[in-house]
Amino acid sequence: MRIAIDGPGGSGKSTISKILAKKLGLIYIDTGAMYRACAYISLKFHVHGDALEELVRNTEIDFLQNDDTQRVILLLKKSEYDVTEAVRTPEVSAKVSEVAADKKIREILTKKQKKLASRKNVIMDGRDIGTEVIPDAEVKIFLNASVDERSRRRYAELKEKYPEISFDEVKDDLVKRDETDTKRQTAPLLKAEDAVEVDTTGLTVDEVVQEIMKIVNKKREAG
Ligand code: DC
Repeated sequence: MRIAIDGPGGSGKSTISKILAKKLGLIYIDTGAMYRACAYISLKFHVHGDALEELVRNTEIDFLQNDDTQRVILLLKKSEYDVTEAVRTPEVSAKVSEVAADKKIREILTKKQKKLASRKNVIMDGRDIGTEVIPDAEVKIFLNASVDERSRRRYAELKEKYPEISFDEVKDDLVKRDETDTKRQTAPLLKAEDAVEVDTTGLTVDEVVQEIMKIVNKKREAG
């Protein structure tokens, strides 16, 4: 089974996808981490435009399953970089929407993602999975939540590592990213016509998982 999970930042995509992957025996692929890896490459090597595209084209992005955690590994310039933590820094978060709006970068990553999805048993989360990457996914979910709830979740995640960060900074970054992701020309954040929208505002993680499991089971029963 292939499951596509789309939605804005902080809607719970990665938390929910990891749990569903375990429950259903699927491989979890975090496509946001791939765009973040490109933003990281741009910042680390000070490359933009054509030079960045060239570097990304020649980079292998791997997900390494390590007990309960998934490591993000880059193979580039004959070196291996574990960027699992580095792709979550506020600097990368502030840069990633710009990189994700680059048409050529999207082409390169979409191609890599389609190849990963061809393994069949995957759950992939992102912004354009149901519309562009796996348009024929058996289950498509569009997760959403109010902007305040999404900001609260992101803030709770970030404040442990970055105690100096403020709620308003986190909210501003999220709103800015929502806007860039929704308004960009290529593959904007969009609910696929046949996706089921699940509003997670006020729901616990367990409740969201149950809701999606109902959709998955219905699909299985239908054959
Ligand atoms: O889900 P996230 O916050 O890790 O995503 C990081 C950024 O990458 C976000 O600004 C949107 C972009 N993105 C995208 O454009 N397409 C995807 N399939 C996944 C993420």
